[in-house]
Amino acid sequence: MAAQDFATRDGRVVRLRPLRNSDLDSLFVFANKLAEEKRVNPDLGVVSFDRRMTRESEQEFLDETIRDCRTRNGVSVAAFAGGKMVGNCDVTRRRFKDVRHTGTLGIVILSEYRGVGLGEAMIRRALSEAKSLGVWLVELDVFSTNRRARALYRKMGFRKSGAVPMKIKRNGVFTDSVNMYARLDVH
Ligand SMILES: CC(C)(COP(=O)(O)OP(=O)(O)OC[C@H]1O[C@@H](n2cnc3c(N)ncnc32)[C@H](O)[C@@H]1OP(=O)(O)O)[C@@H](O)C(=O)NCCC(=O)NCCS
Repeated sequence: MAAQDFATRDGRVVRLRPLRNSDLDSLFVFANKLAEEKRVNPDLGVVSFDRRMTRESEQEFLDETIRDCRTRNGVSVAAFAGGKMVGNCDVTRRRFKDVRHTGTLGIVILSEYRGVGLGEAMIRRALSEAKSLGVWLVELDVFSTNRRARALYRKMGFRKSGAVPMKIKRNGVFTDSVNMYARLDVH
């Protein structure tokens, strides 16, 4: 998919485009900023980034993402500002034939780019690309306490399908996980 420039609510320009091979350095820095945030912010609502990321782990993630896009098994929407990676969103299609019309969405944005409409722009683009691949049912899991993410998902058409009590345990504290789904064929 072509690159697309997005103006945030506070006037910054962010470029949305799929991840590519040359993004390893940016991805490595991005992932470690999140790992560092998670270390100091117990409220960060993501289960990944729970240790310092290595270049190898990020190369693996990059290879997988690029391969999924090439084989129409996934969608990648990364956000760049001033040459730095500031956000990542993907939809991963399920592999088995019976569920190939479904996928899972993940999104994470660096703290200084949250709250300015970027999440909405990234999800909008990711869902539109997923739909063009024939993925018309998208699911995600979100911490029940992640009010901002849940509000955004709802705005983007996701509805709650259920909750798993105590699915997350962080620093000895349990949190419920909420599952949401969006039907892309009816919007
Ligand atoms: C969750 C995340 C992707 C949302 O993206 P974002 O660009 O920050 O989203 P926005 O600021 O546009 O907020 C989305 C909506 O939620 C609302 N919102 C913001 N904070 C809120 C809060 N504390 N409670 C309820 N609603 C809130 C906003 O008003 C906004 O709606 P609006 O555009 O109609 O005003 C981003 O904040 C992020 O990456 N957070 C850290 C990682 C994470 O939680 N990822 C999701 C894992 S499931």
